[in-house]
Amino acid sequence: MTKFPVLESKLILAPMHNITNVAFRIMCKKYGASLVSTELLSANAVSREDNLNLKLALTDKKEKPIAAQLFGQNTENLVKAARKFEADFDIIDINFGCPSKKILSQGAGAALLKRKNKIKEIVKEVSNNIKIPLTVKIRNEDAIEVAKICEKAGASAVTVHARSVKQGYSGKADWNVIKKVKENVKIPVIGNGDVVDGKSAERMLKETNCDYIMIGRAAIGNPFIFKQINEYLKTGKEIRQTKKEKIEDYFGYIKLTKEYKIFSINDAKLKAQDFTKGLSGSRELRGKLNMVKSYEKIEKLVKGL
Ligand SMILES: Cc1cc2nc3c(=O)[nH]c(=O)nc-3n(C[C@H](O)[C@H](O)[C@H](O)COP(=O)(O)O)c2cc1C
Repeated sequence: MTKFPVLESKLILAPMHNITNVAFRIMCKKYGASLVSTELLSANAVSREDNLNLKLALTDKKEKPIAAQLFGQNTENLVKAARKFEADFDIIDINFGCPSKKILSQGAGAALLKRKNKIKEIVKEVSNNIKIPLTVKIRNEDAIEVAKICEKAGASAVTVHARSVKQGYSGKADWNVIKKVKENVKIPVIGNGDVVDGKSAERMLKETNCDYIMIGRAAIGNPFIFKQINEYLKTGKEIRQTKKEKIEDYFGYIKLTKEYKIFSINDAKLKAQDFTKGLSGSRELRGKLNMVKSYEKIEKLVKGL
């Protein structure tokens, strides 16, 4: 087992499909995320060198340390994909928590939580075949048992998204599960679910004793949250961004997507909504964005807010 690194801050960016691309990750890093991750990538597709998945795995030295998250049910392909990513990534994370029908129907993600022997086999084989740390992301179902199996099989840290598979992303996260997992394993435990600001971050650390906090939805369109929470944990003060700064971050994101050649009109529209959420005029902007077809128009609308 290769040890999980000591990170510079308590805050980790959650892997998020269609959100955590290289441009967004660089912004989160700039604002103080100590570890970032790709979105979930198919081990089967990566192992057959599928171009779309390899493009999603685009990374830059600037964002180190970075995790590549894999999902799959075929141990051989998971090993192959993990070995392929070893050169560019610092951590391989395996997804045992995704509740989406598409992933569950392949027997991957949270479907594996029912197959403890398979989890053991995957963690053992992958960790034995790579030189970088392997981590796992799990949910509430049998969390203590699964975490212990993963630790024994060679995982170097465990992320607990404290919701059940049935809950998906709704309802309250049960932080007690994170606490229980922490009491039962020696490897670092990353708590995840419902951290949205400094106060909730501090509360999760206190209530669960977790080693790190993973932030998902509250970071969407809001990479500044990492600075905000780090500052709160240090000083107890909740700092805020101005409207102008939020809009500047949107254009900073767009600039990076162009730099890394991952820009698309669709993404620019969606992120315009995310980055301006809660600002005056953002509702009207949403309606107008639906009609526009060029980036120049999007730019004009966002600048006009
Ligand atoms: C849009 C979106 C995409 C997500 N994609 C992934 C993913 O690719 N891999 C993963 O492990 N979890 C994924 N998740 C789950 C998050 O990583 C996280 O566990 C969840 O949002 C709970 O954290 P939060 O309460 O801070 O949002 C996704 C969540 C959202 C909202």
